[in-house]
Amino acid sequence: MRPYTFINVAATADGKIDTFERKGAAISSRHDKDRVDELRAGADAIIVGGRTLLDESPKLTVKSEALREGRVRRGMPPNPIKVGIVSSADIHPDSDFLNAGPARIVIFTTNRTSKEQVDFLRGRDVEVFIHESERVDLSQALEKLYELGARRVMIEGGGTINFEFLRAGLVDELMIYVAPMIFGGGNAPTLAAGTGLLRNQAITLKLENVETHEDGGILLHYKL
Ligand SMILES: NC(=O)c1ccc[n+]([C@@H]2O[C@H](COP(=O)([O-])OP(=O)(O)OC[C@H]3O[C@@H](n4cnc5c(N)ncnc54)[C@H](OP(=O)(O)O)[C@@H]3O)[C@@H](O)[C@H]2O)c1
Repeated sequence: MRPYTFINVAATADGKIDTFERKGAAISSRHDKDRVDELRAGADAIIVGGRTLLDESPKLTVKSEALREGRVRRGMPPNPIKVGIVSSADIHPDSDFLNAGPARIVIFTTNRTSKEQVDFLRGRDVEVFIHESERVDLSQALEKLYELGARRVMIEGGGTINFEFLRAGLVDELMIYVAPMIFGGGNAPTLAAGTGLLRNQAITLKLENVETHEDGGILLHYKL
């Protein structure tokens, strides 16, 4: 069994999810940030890929106190489980990912993570699952999250992890906030990166809803 999964991403009109600098450029409007906070508040776990985790160390917590309180009233922890999928889990001790909370933290990694680092993470109460293969098996990772109690899982990028989940057929919904701006840049990341697909392998989407925002942004809501 696996949880229900959805990807949420903020992109520019040219499909970029960051600039060529890859420093986590702000794309969402204020209104969209509130929507994302509500999505987080409705999730049992939030997944990020290795590069987003190590380069940007996102907090992945629910920002609104009212939404955190609402979760607690519903019998949930104040924040979702924070999940990193990373081949070598060299997470810095002072990182926001480790320190912002309170939140349960789960890392899926490979044996490229040193034993010392695994011991360090476990010493910080991080639940570390080591896959004895070159890559983390995403299907098994989702099954494990289900075992840990997660029924609704949000995937928050970056482009490579989004693509890997989409390619594996492990995504149920995709939400894209399209901001009225263009970043350009051949090397700027897009919402689905990785090796890519041939035309006849394209992942097809079913459009559920389109919302236009006063700030000029558009929210695209797809089912897979
Ligand atoms: N606008 C948005 O909504 C948004 C959201 C999140 C991130 N971003 C942006 O996205 C960019 C990062 O995206 P990205 O594509 O470079 O990286 P990413 O998807 O965050 O992480 C990719 C890395 O994760 C590891 N990984 C992925 N699948 C794995 C697997 N099955 N097993 C083990 N490790 C796995 C790999 O690390 P190794 O290469 O070490 O094996 C891979 O290079 C940043 O610029 C960030 O700002 C934007």
